[in-house]
Amino acid sequence: MLERNSPGVRSSNRTRGRYEGRVAVVTGAASGIGKAIAEQLSAEGAIVVANDLNAEGLGQLQGANIHTVASDIAVPATAGQLVEAATTVGAGRIDALFNNAGISVNGPAETFAMEDWRRVMDINLDAAFRVAIAVGQVMIEQRSGAILNTASPAGMFGIPNSIAYVVSKHGLVGLTRGLAVEWGQHGIRVNAICPGLTATGMNTQLRAERPGRWSDREARTPLRRGGVPSDQAATALFLNSDEAAYTTGQVAAVDGGQHALYSGYAVAFR
Ligand SMILES: NC(=O)c1ccc[n+]([C@@H]2O[C@H](COP(=O)([O-])OP(=O)(O)OC[C@H]3O[C@@H](n4cnc5c(N)ncnc54)[C@H](O)[C@@H]3O)[C@@H](O)[C@H]2O)c1
Repeated sequence: MLERNSPGVRSSNRTRGRYEGRVAVVTGAASGIGKAIAEQLSAEGAIVVANDLNAEGLGQLQGANIHTVASDIAVPATAGQLVEAATTVGAGRIDALFNNAGISVNGPAETFAMEDWRRVMDINLDAAFRVAIAVGQVMIEQRSGAILNTASPAGMFGIPNSIAYVVSKHGLVGLTRGLAVEWGQHGIRVNAICPGLTATGMNTQLRAERPGRWSDREARTPLRRGGVPSDQAATALFLNSDEAAYTTGQVAAVDGGQHALYSGYAVAFR
C-alpha cells in the first residue's frame, strides 16, 4: 500500500526550508493544487504522505521523501491508512495535514441526483472530517500540528449549478472554524484556503471546450488572470507553517481579488 519514490534521484536541487523534517499528509495529491502542495513540501524538506485515487498520477510526483497511498479518501479505512503511513515514516509524528481532495458534480438543484449529492459530500466533507479526526488524535497527543482545508469561494457564496459542491464547501468552512475553536487548547491550528479560478484537472474540460468562458472569468478578476496551482500551494504551505503560528480559524480567499468585487459590478465598470 505504502510506496516510496526512489530516493536521491531528484533531491539535488532541493531547497531546504520551513518544513525540514516535518511530516505532512496531503489528500488529492496526484493533480492540480494537491500535487503543487506535495511537491513544494518535498522541496522544503518535508516527509510527505500523498494520497489520491489516481495511482498513476501519484507515481509521477517529483521530489524526495514522497510516500504514496493510492486509495479512495471516501472509504472510511483510508483515514487510518494515512495515519499509519505517516506515523511509520515520521517516527510517530504528523505535523501538517492538507485536506485537499475534492470533486464537483454540476447540474440544476431541482434535478440533482441524491447519489451525486452523497458522493460529493462523502469526498468533500465527510472524508475531510474523518481524516482530520484521525490525524488530530496524533496531533492532540503531541500537542502541536496544523490542518489546512481546501475549501472554495463556493464555501462562502452561492454559485450556480453546483448545489452539493456549495453545501459541502460551506461545511468545510464550518469544519475549519469549529475545529480551530475546539483544538486551539491542544496547540493545533486549523485554516482554509478558498482558491479562485485555478487551472487544474478540475477545469481542463472547461478551458479546452469553452475558452471564452474561462477568459471572461479571468477578465472579471481584479488581478486579470486565473490562478495556477503554485499560487494556492504558496498560501497553503504558509498557513500550515510556523510562520502562521498565531493564525487559526481563518478562511483565506486566494483568488486574485475576486471575492473583493461585488458581483453586481464588472471589474472595470465606470
Ligand atoms: N481549481 C479550482 O479552480 C478550484 C477552485 C476552488 C476550490 N478548488 C478545490 O481544490 C481542491 C483540489 O482540486 P484541483 O482544482 O486541484 O482539481 P484536480 O482535479 O486537479 O485535483 C483533485 C484531485 O483529487 C483527487 N480525488 C478526487 N476524488 C478523490 C477521492 N475520492 N479520493 C482520493 N483522491 C480523490 C483527484 O484524483 C485529483 O487528483 C478541491 O478540493 C477543489 O474543490 C479548486
